[in-house]
Amino acid sequence: MNASNTHGLQSPWTTVPGGVTRQHVSWERHLRCPSSTDAVAMRQLVDATGVLDVNSTYAYLLLATDFAKSSIVAERDGELCGLITAYHPPERPEVLFVWQVAVTERVRGTGLAAAMLDELVNRVRRARHGHPLTVEATVAPGNGPSRALFGGFARRHGVPMTERPYFGAELLDPESDHEDEPILRIGPIAAALSD
Ligand SMILES: CC(C)(COP(=O)(O)OP(=O)(O)OC[C@H]1O[C@@H](n2cnc3c(N)ncnc32)[C@H](O)[C@@H]1OP(=O)(O)O)[C@@H](O)C(=O)NCCC(=O)NCCS
Repeated sequence: MNASNTHGLQSPWTTVPGGVTRQHVSWERHLRCPSSTDAVAMRQLVDATGVLDVNSTYAYLLLATDFAKSSIVAERDGELCGLITAYHPPERPEVLFVWQVAVTERVRGTGLAAAMLDELVNRVRRARHGHPLTVEATVAPGNGPSRALFGGFARRHGVPMTERPYFGAELLDPESDHEDEPILRIGPIAAALSD
């Protein structure tokens, strides 16, 4: 039986004999490139996580236009419920640098972040005629869910994940008590594409 959270919404977590497991949802048909009209909702979604740095609406507008092909959003029932913003660093065009990943709390644990990351990487590789792609992201040591997301991605694609120091806390906003942001490097992902 599905549990309900405090807002009376359906929870993706299902109680089963011996524990609690996740109910995976098929997200493919809800995924698309962002567009300019998503920018406000993108900022609001990031803001609602309470843990990510919130950028200006203008920044999300640039991501949703100039970087739309390397970013992805999920929309269900008219609501933006997930996003990944990413781009190709000019000096490393073979890399997809994932900037922010956010999933609205109500649908966490249903495989949305994993589905967005898989679809985005496939889309970018299809556009590049199957060329190998390496995913990079900086992840604070304390962000367990994010580390689990990228670790699971590396396992699904059968590629190594390495980590090295990158942005030290001293480079980040001193007033927000930031952790270090070491960089994860996952890939290269080079398997033949299915279509
Ligand atoms: C991190 C976040 C995007 C994950 O989204 P999600 O849709 O719930 O993730 P998924 O259901 O696709 O799970 C992906 C993997 O992470 C694991 N995972 C997700 N949430 C987890 C949690 N709270 N604790 C441990 N593992 C977790 C899942 O088990 C899954 O692992 P698998 O691939 O080995 O099965 C979401 O929790 C979020 O928006 N957090 C706030 C913002 C944030 O921290 N973003 C990441 C930094 S950019």
